[in-house]
Amino acid sequence: MAGFVGAQHEFHDAEFVQGWADRFVPSPPRLVLFDMVHAEIRRLSVPEPNVLELGLGPGYMARHILERDQALRYEGLDFSAVFIDVARRILGDLAPRVTFTQADLLDQSWPTRLTRRPHAIVSTWALHDLGSQHAVADVYARSYETLPPGGVLVNGDFIKPDGTAWIYEPGRFEVARHLELLRQAGFADPMSLHHFEVEADNPTAAQNYACLVAMK
Ligand SMILES: C[S@@+](CC[C@H](N)C(=O)[O-])C[C@H]1O[C@@H](n2cnc3c(N)ncnc32)[C@H](O)[C@@H]1O
Repeated sequence: MAGFVGAQHEFHDAEFVQGWADRFVPSPPRLVLFDMVHAEIRRLSVPEPNVLELGLGPGYMARHILERDQALRYEGLDFSAVFIDVARRILGDLAPRVTFTQADLLDQSWPTRLTRRPHAIVSTWALHDLGSQHAVADVYARSYETLPPGGVLVNGDFIKPDGTAWIYEPGRFEVARHLELLRQAGFADPMSLHHFEVEADNPTAAQNYACLVAMK
């Protein structure tokens, strides 16, 4: 059997966003991805790193990382004011440690909206929503320009598993292509650390995501 894998979102609709946030409370494998992202941030030789999350969403990863790390400074970028409101609520007491930045990743000037230069740029389940390989490649290029030498980009996002007969929405594509786009952006030795919830034969839109890491 084969079919289509993708998802429809209404990122600016308050009811949709709250319902989405309620349904997608992170599962155990998703928490493992958060820990993996945090470990990559902590491999940097910076005691108090500036972290930028692209596509803050409801703030689940931000909360997970901030609860475990008192030292880092966190900036969360999202184009949806509604999602930023939900993130403030979910972050609760941690919200004062986050700078909320409203910007559109499809607008190539987004780096000029940042409050501070990040040592680490991180993202989970967001960049596929930009809708094309071209848009993801642009984010990789802007991230490379924005990071200092020694900085890291960690993208945990939905991918198309190798060997599947299913059709995937254009923002979900193979790990090998992500690594090619990261190299084209300037990153010397990008890698995929792990492929989560692997399912090639009968996938849902919530399965098949990889943790991609690239050092500048
Ligand atoms: C699935 S959520 C991210 C979840 C988040 N990593 C977490 O752990 O809670 C994806 C987010 O990407 C944002 N997004 C989608 N397209 C965007 C764009 N063009 N510019 C900025 N943010 C965008 C959406 O508004 C949404 O909040």
